[in-house]
Amino acid sequence: MISIESLTFQYEGSTEPAVKDITLNIEDGGFFGIIGPAGAGKTTLARALCGIVPHHYKGDFYGSVTVDSMDTVDSKMTDICRVVGMVFQDVESQIISSVVEDELLYGLENYGIPHEEIEERMDFALREVGIEDLRYRTIASLSGGQRQKVAIASVIALRPKVLLLDEPTGELDPGSSRQVFGLLKTLNEKYGITIVVIEQKIMLLSEFAKELAVMSGGSMFCHGPVREVLKRARELEEIGVNCPRVASLAQNLHKEGLLKTPVLINVDEAEAAVRRLIS
Ligand SMILES: Nc1ncnc2c1ncn2[C@@H]1O[C@H](COP(=O)(O)OP(=O)(O)OP(=O)(O)O)[C@@H](O)[C@H]1O
Ligand SMILES: [Mg+2]
Repeated sequence: MISIESLTFQYEGSTEPAVKDITLNIEDGGFFGIIGPAGAGKTTLARALCGIVPHHYKGDFYGSVTVDSMDTVDSKMTDICRVVGMVFQDVESQIISSVVEDELLYGLENYGIPHEEIEERMDFALREVGIEDLRYRTIASLSGGQRQKVAIASVIALRPKVLLLDEPTGELDPGSSRQVFGLLKTLNEKYGITIVVIEQKIMLLSEFAKELAVMSGGSMFCHGPVREVLKRARELEEIGVNCPRVASLAQNLHKEGLLKTPVLINVDEAEAAVRRLIS
């Protein structure tokens, strides 16, 4: 679905590339997480995946990004956006209307969706995101979690094959964060939408994502299945990634010969392992 080959990008006016020599494949129908410390290049990579780097952000672009067989540099933004929908890190800057319904309409009309299809697509997006009751509300009256859902609804109304989200739970409490991930899981499993999500809440992410990519200093530190990546909890801590405590616990127990598996990814697994250990 998405193929990144030796991508290096340096913003105009910068002295160093924001992403360096990234090679990565994102499979059709996958659920992919991107993690890494602040300034690691996660947002820049996401911008490259949806074409706004280099179409809107100018700079030196080397290598290639191919989305659904389109080379992003040679393709029009409107064509790339039909395939990859992005929810930005700063959701406030993404929402431009003052009423929820208008926000969805704006995207659909901009994409030239035929009039007879618009109603059905709006219903679909509001229903799947679970915000039918917010349809006529003003954006100003919504909570952070509700705005996040509006942003996601307006993107999925366009029926993208890939949904790309940059720290969608950054402003949300644990309950709303989990709800957003539950929604992404549904979109992934029920509609086969490929999910790519940048996230700081690694424990939550690890529960839902199948694969993780770790960025550090603009480079790809490592990537692979979630368990393979979390096996390297100690190295990840060293580059400033806050691993779930259960991952570090597993590594320590494994090192001491007390645990066969070097990785545990959630509290249930850790509880079961510790119970076995003390029984
Ligand atoms: N529009 C821009 N113009 C110039 N430099 C930029 C721009 N956006 C980001 N950068 C620089 O590129 C590097 C990578 O930034 P990026 O925002 O991609 O990292 P990030 O991993 O998303 O960080 P965060 O966790 O803080 O969101 C940083 O050094 C940043 O200052
Ligand atoms: Mg960022």
